[in-house]
Amino acid sequence: MKRQLPNPRELLELMQFKKPDLNARRRRLDAALTIEDLRAIAKRRTPAAAFDYTDGAADGEISLARARQAFEDVEFHPDILRPAERVDTSTTVLGGTSALPFGIAPTGFTRLMQSEGETAGAGAAAAAGIPFTLSTLGTTTIEDVKAVNPHGRNWFQLYVMRQREISYGLVERAAAAGYDTLMFTVDTPVAGARLRDTRNGFSIPPQLSIRTIANAIPRPWWWYDFLTTPKLEFASLSTTGGTVGELLNSAMDPTISYDDLEIIRSMWPGRLVVKGVQNVPDAVRLIDRGVDGIVLSNHGGRQLDRAPIPFHLLPQVVREVGRDATVMVDTGIMSGADIVASMALGAKFTLIGRAYLYGLMAGGRQGVDRTIAILRSEIVRTMALLGVSSLEELEPRHVTQLRRLEPMPLETDPAAR
Ligand SMILES: Cc1cc2nc3c(=O)[nH]c(=O)nc-3n(C[C@H](O)[C@H](O)[C@H](O)COP(=O)(O)O)c2cc1C
Repeated sequence: MKRQLPNPRELLELMQFKKPDLNARRRRLDAALTIEDLRAIAKRRTPAAAFDYTDGAADGEISLARARQAFEDVEFHPDILRPAERVDTSTTVLGGTSALPFGIAPTGFTRLMQSEGETAGAGAAAAAGIPFTLSTLGTTTIEDVKAVNPHGRNWFQLYVMRQREISYGLVERAAAAGYDTLMFTVDTPVAGARLRDTRNGFSIPPQLSIRTIANAIPRPWWWYDFLTTPKLEFASLSTTGGTVGELLNSAMDPTISYDDLEIIRSMWPGRLVVKGVQNVPDAVRLIDRGVDGIVLSNHGGRQLDRAPIPFHLLPQVVREVGRDATVMVDTGIMSGADIVASMALGAKFTLIGRAYLYGLMAGGRQGVDRTIAILRSEIVRTMALLGVSSLEELEPRHVTQLRRLEPMPLETDPAAR
């Protein structure tokens, strides 16, 4: 090998040091390349009880783990030599457009995770051109979310509460504020068993104990924000009276039925979606009854444990209700590739819950922007690598599931198994 003395000019060219970014939040967020990275930052910065309330699921957390595993077990099948200059990620859902094939799912108590709460979510959704869903148990009012996202798409999630008048009042307010879609959640006849919350002695609002104070010491900024911003409450419900506990209890009603669906339908002028569908016959029945869309969801694994994996239900449901019906899916989405896989199997749209909340806890509004940016770049890259340039070009043949969690056929004859 021939050697030479290093050329100082070439050496200088190699030494292109980047100027350090003095904004710590931006530095932290830019270093996060995946939703899992944002989750790690969120965990460091948020008191354990609030982080676990968000990150945790019901009982053994098997529903959530399986849903995430099902996405990891996707195998993509790309086409080659299909020229595409640019990838179009926009889509139409429920009578409006969305710049990306996902929206923000409804989450209760969002300002508990980080004090900017729904304002950060709605603002980031507005900037990205995607829908934002406000929960009945949200911590920002219907009107305040509308003010943050005045020209974008706001959806309102409804719990039909024991005191029906409270829910009807919310429906009227959401309609008056110009929300275009109402999402009726039906998978909460009773509360799921969130064991992490019980073990943490978690309460809403948070109570100070020796343990919470010890846990707070490395997270002073969260506490500073928490103590110097308006009191945490179910903002849209605060005018209806009742303690937080009473309102929470009222949100879970095991007597809700198709009759309630009819009443809500007659009251609501916009699009109506039912969230929490978990089998094919229910999906067919709802579409036959004329709902505008359904969300296949097990509530992010926070209700029934060992529930069906929504992503697994997708092909069967789409086959039965037809590709024109608005079938959406959530639970377990941690990457843009999960969203692409869902769209390929016939979903019209997807929702993200924790992926959004991890971003929020990692850095408020900028953190939610980061979540959306990460998912966007994963969607674009996955589509380009598959050889498709628009969401309509995605087909079921682009995706198979590696066999791991394949359900056994439901045989009546045990000998046939
Ligand atoms: C902290 C938290 C609070 C939630 N609150 C609600 C709620 O108030 N209403 C509702 O319909 N779903 C609620 N969900 C469920 C989400 O809307 C969504 O179905 C779920 O998070 C999707 O799963 P993922 O977190 O894996 O994306 C909540 C989820 C989380 C994580």
